[in-house]
Amino acid sequence: MPFYRSVGSVPPKRHTQHRDPEGRLYYEELMGEEGFSSDSSLLYHRGVPSGIVDSQVWELPDQSRTPNHPLKPRHLKLHTLFPEPGEGEGACPVEGRRMVLGNNDVRISYVVSGTDPSSYYRNAIGDECVYVEAGSGVVETVFGVVPYRTQDYVLIPRATTHRWVPSEPSRLYAIEANSHIAPPKRYLSRFGQLLEHAPYCERDLHGPGETILVEGPRDIEVLVKHRVGGQVVGTRMTYDTHPFDVVGWDGCLYPYTFNLEDYMPITGKIHQPPPVHQVFEGWNFVICNFLPRKVDYHPLSIPVPYYHSNVDSDEIMFYVGGDYEARKGSGIDLGSISVHPGGYAHGPQPSAIEASLGVETFDETAVMIDTFQPLDLGEAGVAAEDASYAWSWAGRHSGESGSGEDGGPAVFSNS
Ligand SMILES: [Fe+2]
Repeated sequence: MPFYRSVGSVPPKRHTQHRDPEGRLYYEELMGEEGFSSDSSLLYHRGVPSGIVDSQVWELPDQSRTPNHPLKPRHLKLHTLFPEPGEGEGACPVEGRRMVLGNNDVRISYVVSGTDPSSYYRNAIGDECVYVEAGSGVVETVFGVVPYRTQDYVLIPRATTHRWVPSEPSRLYAIEANSHIAPPKRYLSRFGQLLEHAPYCERDLHGPGETILVEGPRDIEVLVKHRVGGQVVGTRMTYDTHPFDVVGWDGCLYPYTFNLEDYMPITGKIHQPPPVHQVFEGWNFVICNFLPRKVDYHPLSIPVPYYHSNVDSDEIMFYVGGDYEARKGSGIDLGSISVHPGGYAHGPQPSAIEASLGVETFDETAVMIDTFQPLDLGEAGVAAEDASYAWSWAGRHSGESGSGEDGGPAVFSNS
């Protein structure tokens, strides 16, 4: 995040005395990326930020991974993984996450929360980008309060202590990187400003507006996700004083949200490739979003995509909004994920190509992740699979997914 922000009370000069009204020094902490060589912020704490009194193992939910072998396209129905919001208490937005897909660069999990706050938590492996499929509330962080709502991406930098406080049950799609997640470099000037051709700008990124100062309680447990020997593990650290004790901070590293409504799709005379829909990037993966928009205006254009073989990537589409009557027959519906792996050509169901001719708009909302290393299925991916999807183009197998022939065409921009 290259954009400077200052919240609360900070001294005029960094690394100088900053005292409370009683004359006690605040404890200055630098949170910085890439070993003092990239973006950072300075935070001023009432308590000692390193003051822990206990450390115990936190047993993570099932982190097992099943290779996509034999290789197949997959359809995963995420809404089958949890009860509908409101039916029961809901899961913890942190501890209740179930892993859908993962590799050594990124893990994708899903959870449906109730309205209870999550545990205090930080991810010491990498940044998190949590897409809010539905719901609202706030994320309380050491930097302050970040409100969230449906269609937000919530970006939380590595090692940011925070907790989720839903005001209504929330469907959360958590993208946990082993790296940082940021706007694509090609959207940025050499000094880091979002350029005119980028589909969003600084006004669309919403950081914390005020700090949180919690008085009183001590022995606060914080869950820390980290790595041991290449494995993802967890530790419960107990802090002497409450971690939300920052009176002020400034810098260019902090959590923020970005809503899909603020993404301005780029359209063209003929079919535009997925990179025009990109929103963020991490190490060895990108995040794109496909939104309602006008489509191709060449008189002979074919609005749905050509078949494409992702030579270098696995392509994960999460279908979160739109008119899915048009996809009747493919099995894809709201809450579905399609997994189109590298080494395999995919595209529309055949009848969708003719059906798309003359279409002027697409009513679709989907979040796509392309990874540059193969993804394995997590336990939730295995549990949510509609196994008949792989055969839906050839139409040789009957079943829930079927082909476009028996269910009508699938008109979708990146099926
Ligand atoms: Fe594709």
